[in-house]
Amino acid sequence: MAKSQLPPDFLWGFATAAYQIEGAVHEDGRADSIWDTFCRQPGKIADASSGEVACDSYRRTSQDIELLKSIGAKAYRFSLSWSRIIPLGGRDDPVNEKGLQHYVHFVDDLRAAGIEPLVTLYHWDLPDNLEKRYGGLLNKDEFVQDFTHYAKVVFEALAGQVKYFITFNEPWCVAVHGYQKGIFAPGRTSDRSVNPEGDGSREPWIVAHSMLVAHGHAVKLFRDEFKPKHGGRIAITLNGDWGEPWDKNDPKDVAAVQRKQEFFIGWHGDPIYFGDYPASMREQLQDRLPEFTEEERAIVKGSNDFYGMNHYCADYVRHIEGVPAADDVTGNTELLKVNKEGERIGPETQSSWLTPNPLGFRKLLNWISNRYDHPTIYVTENGTSLKGENDLPIDQLLEDDFRVQFFEDYIGAMADAYTLDKIDVQGYMAWSLLDNFEWAEGYETRFGVTYVDYEHGQTRHPKKSARMIRHMFDSVIRKE
Ligand code: BGC
Repeated sequence: MAKSQLPPDFLWGFATAAYQIEGAVHEDGRADSIWDTFCRQPGKIADASSGEVACDSYRRTSQDIELLKSIGAKAYRFSLSWSRIIPLGGRDDPVNEKGLQHYVHFVDDLRAAGIEPLVTLYHWDLPDNLEKRYGGLLNKDEFVQDFTHYAKVVFEALAGQVKYFITFNEPWCVAVHGYQKGIFAPGRTSDRSVNPEGDGSREPWIVAHSMLVAHGHAVKLFRDEFKPKHGGRIAITLNGDWGEPWDKNDPKDVAAVQRKQEFFIGWHGDPIYFGDYPASMREQLQDRLPEFTEEERAIVKGSNDFYGMNHYCADYVRHIEGVPAADDVTGNTELLKVNKEGERIGPETQSSWLTPNPLGFRKLLNWISNRYDHPTIYVTENGTSLKGENDLPIDQLLEDDFRVQFFEDYIGAMADAYTLDKIDVQGYMAWSLLDNFEWAEGYETRFGVTYVDYEHGQTRHPKKSARMIRHMFDSVIRKE
């Protein structure tokens, strides 16, 4: 059988996010984000670290661009720090020209290097002042107006040079980790041993609704005022992992897989493609799930120019009997790594949640494509950590064969989805260009194709995977 291929203009590169790499948190007028304040609370970050220095990328833009060039990247996905651009965050607060110009120059420099920028507006780092001023994402009316204003400032500065905008990165993670588990900023949860405030049974659904409506408004603004002049596309990026039934002979586990996907992906995907939340969510959550007003529905439905897909792994899904817990976010299911027969879904990595399963990637590409009527898909993140990588001596760490194999298998699965299943996948960004601040796990978990030596001035050392990805795409992308 002929080898699966990808189209000649397939866009591939690497991804990062502002708080995870930039550092320079007090430079040029930047103010705190909720992650700066969250990291200062004892016990929240595994190694008690923060993004204060991170990879120092704010000061090393030219190094990062050189690195991207040297490993053959065609594209780079990065996010903007809202509190650099509008330090206090709000629509009546001053714009910080220095912060804004930093990104204008960065985009110009990427373009000059022949690298296509993909810009994410919100990768979890809300200006802390908005959290304090009105409760951040919990206050839909204020948040939507402030986010839309921030988006406008960004479009005015960048729309001429940027062809791909992403409004929100993984609203699921914001809502669940930030408002149900309390392990991400702002750390709210019903669990009083974790945080004194929060209601995991209600707040995740409220903040997700705020993000969806804010996304809709930003997209409308982009389409009305910027797209006609500059072209370009805009979308949201949703995370989602594959699921297999824990017991494939139990219809309840088979049904649980579908319900779990509706809770994880349909939660945000269905309103954007169909105009409402999945019926399974309404059934379980009833009036805890917000209703779309007619105006909101009109603005959210149809608000994706492409489907931004973040994907890492797969799980076995087992149904839970009985009434769902008040703060259940899974559709009353359990995610497991081992099935009824005792088979593992994938190998272990440094991240307890991440068990690679490349065929699951192909299956999920099909699931998304079928559910949402074959949208163009850009994979905006995919990658892996390695068990024990941080403890290896540098010479061994640079030979990251496990990660090389991961990319080989996942890129192959994506090419199969394109060639054999006719899935319209047009882009792929590997997570991540650099080892970086892995949120609550601090710097102990590395996801980079480039080793960052945090002890010796954040120097960059490309791993084997950094060099190999280009060859993988060379061999799989069809020549004209
Ligand atoms: C996030 C990244 C994160 C990665 C690995 C994704 O959910 O967008 O910021 O570093 O997963 O955990």
